[in-house]
Amino acid sequence: MQPRFNQKVAVVIGGNSGIGLASAHAFALEGARVVVTGRDTATLARAVASIGAGSLAVRCDVSNLREIDALMDEIRTKLGRIDVLFVNAGVGAFIPIEAVTEEDWDRLMAVNLKGVFFTVQKALPLMSRGAAIVLNSSIGWKKGIPTGSAYAASKAGVRALGRNFAAELVGRGIRVNVVSPGPVETPIIGRTVGLSPERIPQLRKEMLANTPMKRMGEPSEVARAALFLASDEASFITGVDLLVDGGAASF
Ligand SMILES: NC(=O)c1ccc[n+]([C@@H]2O[C@H](COP(=O)([O-])OP(=O)(O)OC[C@H]3O[C@@H](n4cnc5c(N)ncnc54)[C@H](OP(=O)(O)O)[C@@H]3O)[C@@H](O)[C@H]2O)c1
Repeated sequence: MQPRFNQKVAVVIGGNSGIGLASAHAFALEGARVVVTGRDTATLARAVASIGAGSLAVRCDVSNLREIDALMDEIRTKLGRIDVLFVNAGVGAFIPIEAVTEEDWDRLMAVNLKGVFFTVQKALPLMSRGAAIVLNSSIGWKKGIPTGSAYAASKAGVRALGRNFAAELVGRGIRVNVVSPGPVETPIIGRTVGLSPERIPQLRKEMLANTPMKRMGEPSEVARAALFLASDEASFITGVDLLVDGGAASF
């Protein structure tokens, strides 16, 4: 099979960990010149070292619009364009309704929703006909989960952005789709706001009980879905939400 991303520039926002890192590796294996972003300079350095020649790491906090501007300036200067944009960065939160603070809410929205919107807005000048955007939402937007309301609201927003971006950009030949993972084994579990270390084993049990396939997903399984949507194999697909969840949100 021909590599699907030969000669393409693929930018993975939040490409230094979990699903984003697996996707960055997969894009590179299929010929892409890969840019990974994130906040943590140590994991960014490890990511480019493991992805290999031609890859680029840029530190960028997506909640800060000036940092997104600087990211896009660097990509313009070093690579000239973006063919594939995987907007994957996000933070999790499991907080009971009464305990959600204004700060929790603002932080979640700043990263998971505002960050997605403005990353796409500021990447568009570098994207042209044939380019593809994939957003990472969550089954949280479809399924009621106790303590998940604030996170789910941010991810419902991401799903809505996907549909509306798709409608607005279809005339420019840019496809936009969404992946919505179910429970996937990544570092996010250890850094989810409101989740104490003691609660993690119980949460895992609940997630497995609520997933028909009775296992967690692997980051590479979400990466494969993102690569499909970003590739020409999905040339007649725009505005969809692809669940990668072992059946969790469907039955
Ligand atoms: N794992 C799951 O079960 C699951 C399920 C549904 C949806 N998701 C979604 O999948 C996406 C990837 O998550 P993951 O599971 O792979 O988690 P992860 O390993 O924790 O990765 C999260 C990524 O987002 C980046 N990030 C977080 N805050 C950021 C900020 N303010 N600015 C820039 N980058 C930021 C992180 O970079 P730094 O490390 O440098 O901060 C990291 O690259 C998220 O949007 C998450 O909501 C995950």
